[in-house]
Amino acid sequence: MYHYEALPAAEWFRRNRELAGFHNPARALYQTVRELVENALDATETYGILPTVYVRIGVVDEQRGWVSVYAEDNGIGIPGGEIPNVLGRVFYSSKYRVRQHRGIFGLGLKMIVLYAQSTTNRPVYVRSATLKSDKIYEYAIMIDTNSNSPAVLHRQEYPNKYKWHGTAIKVCIEGNWHAAKRRIEEYLRRTAIVAPYAEIIFRGPDVSLRLGRRTTKMPPPPEEGLPHPKTVDADMLKQMVRENGSATLLELLAGNFDGVGRETARAFAAWAGLAPDARVSELSQDDLVRLAERMRQYEGWRRPRAVSLSPAGAELLELGARAILGAEAVFAVTRKPESYGGHPFIVEAAVAWGGQIPPAERPLLLRYANKIPLLYDEGVDVARKVADEFSWQNYRVRFPAPLAVIVHVCSTKIPYVSAGKEAIADIPEIEREIRLALRDAAKKLRAYLARREREAELVEKYVSLAKYVDEIAHSLAVVTGASRARLAESLHRLIERKIGMTAEELLRRA
Ligand SMILES: Nc1ncnc2c1ncn2[C@@H]1O[C@H](COP(=O)(O)OP(=O)(O)OP(=O)(O)O)[C@@H](O)[C@H]1O
Ligand SMILES: [Mg+2]
Repeated sequence: MYHYEALPAAEWFRRNRELAGFHNPARALYQTVRELVENALDATETYGILPTVYVRIGVVDEQRGWVSVYAEDNGIGIPGGEIPNVLGRVFYSSKYRVRQHRGIFGLGLKMIVLYAQSTTNRPVYVRSATLKSDKIYEYAIMIDTNSNSPAVLHRQEYPNKYKWHGTAIKVCIEGNWHAAKRRIEEYLRRTAIVAPYAEIIFRGPDVSLRLGRRTTKMPPPPEEGLPHPKTVDADMLKQMVRENGSATLLELLAGNFDGVGRETARAFAAWAGLAPDARVSELSQDDLVRLAERMRQYEGWRRPRAVSLSPAGAELLELGARAILGAEAVFAVTRKPESYGGHPFIVEAAVAWGGQIPPAERPLLLRYANKIPLLYDEGVDVARKVADEFSWQNYRVRFPAPLAVIVHVCSTKIPYVSAGKEAIADIPEIEREIRLALRDAAKKLRAYLARREREAELVEKYVSLAKYVDEIAHSLAVVTGASRARLAESLHRLIERKIGMTAEELLRRA
C-alpha cells in the first residue's frame, strides 16, 4: 500500500532549497544578500524613493561557519500586521501584480527564514515602519513548516519619533563568506550599474564597499497594469467570475483586461460565437475552459501596453557602466516594447569598450533581468547564446578585445529557468530583440572604432611628414636666407592643412 500525504509548501521548500538558490553555505549567503537587496530596491525605487541600502555581514561563530547578515533600507516599509505573513508564510507577496518588480515568487524572504532555522535554528529579526507611521514594529519570527504559517517569538512596538521609514532585517545563517565574497561584491557592483541612483553601502568581515549615488535621476516608476487576455487560463477566469458574479461577458472582458474596451470585447465575442450579454455566472466550467482557449487564440487584441515596465534607459546605463566598469566608451540602446504570449517586455543593451575592461577572447557578458544582475547559470541563458553567435567582426571588433556587453530584459513576467532567478529561458521573441538590441548598440561602437582608426592613421601620417620639417627648413634657410623657425612653422601649417586637423587637435584625440 502506498502512503499518501500532502507536503506543506514551506516544508517542500525547506527540503528542496537548492531550487531557490540555497545550494550550499557559499551560495546560500550570496542568495540571502541578493534577496534582501532586491526587496530593498523594490521597496524604494518602485515608489519613487531614491534607494539607500546598507548591508553588513559579520562572523558569528568561525568554527561552525555561522555568519550574520543585516540589511536596511529607506523604503515604504511593511505594515506591522503584515510582517508575520510576509516573513513566515511561503507564497505571500505584494508583488503578484502586473508590474515590473525584482521579486515575483513571494518566496525570497521565506527561504532565508527557512534556511536560517535549518542551519542555526535562530529566528529572523525584523524592524519596519511604513511611510508616516507613528510606530516602529519589531518582530522575531520563525516558520512552522507543517502549517506554512509564521511563529512569532517576539513582538514589540516603539514610537516612531523621527518618522523613520524602511525595513531592517537580521539573520544568522550558516554561510561561507570567503567562498561567496567575490560574487557578492560583483553582484553589488553590477547592481550599481543599472541603478546608479542607488546608494549601496556594504561591510563584510574584511571588505567594505561604498557604491555612491551617481545621479538623482530615476526611471519613472512602473504603473500597475491589467493582465493581457492572451495570458488567461481557466482558473484565472473562474476566480474573476467569482468576483464579478453579476457581470455580463462584455463587462467582464472590458473591465479586467489590458487594452480591452467594449468595442474590442464585442468584436471578440462575435469572433468566438459568444453572446456578449450572457451573465458570466451562468457559464459552466466547460464554457470557461473554452472561453480561456478562445481568448488565447484570438489575434484581434491590442498589443500589451508597456506602462507596467520600467527600463533603466540608455542614459543611466551609460552612466552606470562608465562609472563602474571604468570603460573608455559606452553605447546603450533601449528597444521599443514587444511581447511574448501576452507579456510585455523591453530589451536594453549596452556595449562598453576599453579603459579598465581587460581584453578577452569573447565579450564579458553582464546579464540583467528586471534590473537584477544574473551571475550564475550563464551557460543556459539566452543572452549568452546571442552574444556568442553575434558577428562581432562585422562591427570592427577583433578578439582579444576589451569588450563588455550588457543585456537587460525587463518584463512583467521574466521567463526564468528556475526559482533561483539566475537565467532567462530561450523565448524566440526575446532572443530576437536581444539580437536587435546588440546590433543597434554595436553599430554605434563600430562608428566609434572607425573614427578612432581614422584618427590613428592621421596621427601616423602627421608624424611621418613632420619628421622632415626640420631638415627641409634648414636647407631652405640656407638657400633663401629666410628665418628657419618661420619656415618650419609654415611647413607645419602646410601639413596640418593637408591632414585637415591641427597638431593640437590630433594630440587631444589620440
Ligand atoms: N525591504 C522591504 N520593504 C518593504 N516590503 C518588503 C521588503 N521585503 C519584503 N517586503 C514585502 O514582503 C513581500 C515578500 O517578500 P519576498 O522576498 O518573500 O517575496 P517577493 O519579493 O514578493 O518575491 P520573490 O520570491 O521573487 O523575492 C514582498 O512582496 C513585499 O511586499
Ligand atoms: Mg523578494
